[in-house]
Amino acid sequence: MSNTSRNEERTEANEAQIAVHWKEEQYFQPSQSFIDQANLRDPDVRTRFGEDNFPDCFREYADLLTWSKPYHTVLDTSHPPFWKWFTGGELNACYNCVDRHLEHYRNKAAFIFVAEPESDAPVAMTYQELYVRVNEMAALLRDFCGLKKGDRVTLHLPMTLDLPITMLACARLGVIHSQVFGGFSGQSCGSRIQDSGSRVLISTDAYWRSGKLIDHKVNADIAVQAAEALGQHVDQVLIWQRYPGKYSSPTPMVEGRDHFVNELLKQYAGRRVEPEAMDAEAPLFLMYSSGTTGKPKGCQHRTGGYLAYVAGTSKYIEDIHPTDTYWCMADIGWITGHSYIVYGPLLLAATSVIYEGTPTFPDVRRPWRIAERLGVNIFHTSPTAVRALRRAGPDEPSQCQQRFKHMTTVGEPIEPSAWRWYYEEVGKSQAVIVDTWWQTENGGFLCSTIPALDAMKPGSAGPALPGIYPVIYDDDGNEVAKGAGQAGNLCIRNPWPGIMQTVWGNDQRFIDTYYKRYCKNPDSTDWRDWPYMSGDGAMQAADGYFRILGRLDDVINVSGHRLGTKEIESACMTVPEVAEAAVVPVSDEVKGKVPEVYVSLTPDARDPAAAARKVVQACESIIGKIARPEHVYVVQDMPKTRSGKIMRRVLSAISNGRDVGDITTLANGSVVEDIRTQVDSARAAARKP
Ligand code: WTA
Repeated sequence: MSNTSRNEERTEANEAQIAVHWKEEQYFQPSQSFIDQANLRDPDVRTRFGEDNFPDCFREYADLLTWSKPYHTVLDTSHPPFWKWFTGGELNACYNCVDRHLEHYRNKAAFIFVAEPESDAPVAMTYQELYVRVNEMAALLRDFCGLKKGDRVTLHLPMTLDLPITMLACARLGVIHSQVFGGFSGQSCGSRIQDSGSRVLISTDAYWRSGKLIDHKVNADIAVQAAEALGQHVDQVLIWQRYPGKYSSPTPMVEGRDHFVNELLKQYAGRRVEPEAMDAEAPLFLMYSSGTTGKPKGCQHRTGGYLAYVAGTSKYIEDIHPTDTYWCMADIGWITGHSYIVYGPLLLAATSVIYEGTPTFPDVRRPWRIAERLGVNIFHTSPTAVRALRRAGPDEPSQCQQRFKHMTTVGEPIEPSAWRWYYEEVGKSQAVIVDTWWQTENGGFLCSTIPALDAMKPGSAGPALPGIYPVIYDDDGNEVAKGAGQAGNLCIRNPWPGIMQTVWGNDQRFIDTYYKRYCKNPDSTDWRDWPYMSGDGAMQAADGYFRILGRLDDVINVSGHRLGTKEIESACMTVPEVAEAAVVPVSDEVKGKVPEVYVSLTPDARDPAAAARKVVQACESIIGKIARPEHVYVVQDMPKTRSGKIMRRVLSAISNGRDVGDITTLANGSVVEDIRTQVDSARAAARKP
């Protein structure tokens, strides 16, 4: 290639356009038996939810709710980007999830709780029983804690029934719940207590995780202290007991401040509390989410729009019917759990499974045994879990009689090879799969196939949901056309009912993070001037399906070519011995950045060096020499968050010789030093003549 043509190539390569090189995957069709029973079979749905009918199309979702006062306006855009949905309307979230089902479903299970110890039988809680418990808890929160409409309460609860009971009791009173993922440290909980201004913390003494009864009360003490240091005083700490009547923590209760919920509840036995009629725009909950910089943002979700959106998407994308037994393996401490373990399934009167422990305890067959035993027919999990279960027990699902009609993945891109295993082994080639793309900020799914109407394509999240109008912009705000083979910033042109209201206490951060970059006219009150920026890189294939590359800051710029880390990881995953792969950018004097690859292998892989060579070959042959990893490190275990996501930040720090920073949120912090030693000695060996 001559110098001139090389330069031309450089100038043509727009900074925002990310070259993507993956091959198109074959389609999979939903089975006729799924289609025959599906909630959404109308092929005109996307027209009905088209721009000509926006925003009125979302009345259909609002109609799935029971309103105590009807709304007068579907969408109020007078103060962008602070959209208002279903204004004038009033409703109560708890009433919609519980009370209104009593007439038809009183003694049907709302939840089935599965404790981690397998010797404890599953516990079914009926809608009637949930109604009783939620009312008693609401009475306690109101009369003992003095909580009222608009107050914030921080919950730091694990996956037991106490969590949804507490959330729904808050919702009944119009109290804003802020559930912090149970696996987070007391310190993280404390900063969220402070940010939300909670004076009550609701926690628990202990819970089971990987065979251990973990002391959780200790985190409550740390959290209160941390909040205090930041200037927020906590008056009351309510502690649920994992085994009512027995205190399972070695950490002492603090006199005057700490109270056992189950003891207090005795005073409220049989009490009923009227559900508060809440304005559609009243905040329902906060969910903290990490940004690239700065402290976590409190994503503030509204009552009416949020509930309408999760009801609609649960019904049409998750295909939930009241007769279904639905199991989402996420944690309620994440947005997925709020929307698709608690609110969505309950709004539709389904039975939702809550599992306390790790999916691989006591062995990797556990999830399939649970599914078989409970008759779960809708299953929902993450690609990370799929990869982990596949790695540890590729043949296990075939040993059980689970029969799924529908399966979901969420949270990360799923490699086509993992998708196929999920489809063939877990779903037994019968279940339809939806790969749902969305974020904490979004309330509910934004991109996914409609299960009975669209063909599945492994690795692609599918087209936009009805009523969602995405666009991909390059760095200059030009649209990247579908089928162009280029990626860019995935944005949504329109507001939708599930979008968060604001960052709690920080309107400016809301504007700056999501709207500033591509706003066409800050003075305009026309929603068309205010696209929402997701911060994800994506490309749209000619068929309209979106393939998500991951966060834009995960992109590696090699010699002026941008490569999605996910794309390289997909390539690594095509090597049969590779169970998990993570790619991080490493600074390189000549090329800017080069990728380094970390892989863990399947248990039957015998020759790590050979596997590493195959990884290099796979990157070169699938993407090109440009993607050739500088190093491939075969590690025993990846550093992971408690929710199972690989911490690429930590690997990147190791690769770049930086301090790994705070690793307290890791599930397996001890692997970090091992990996660093391994990387250092590999480097030293490479330097030897
Ligand atoms: C990523 C989880 C690919 C994405 C609901 C997004 C996905 C971030 C998918 C949000 C998917 C989520 N395919 N990537 N189906 N779903 N992501 O806030 O990068 O925990 O921005 O919400 O996860 O993560 P969050």
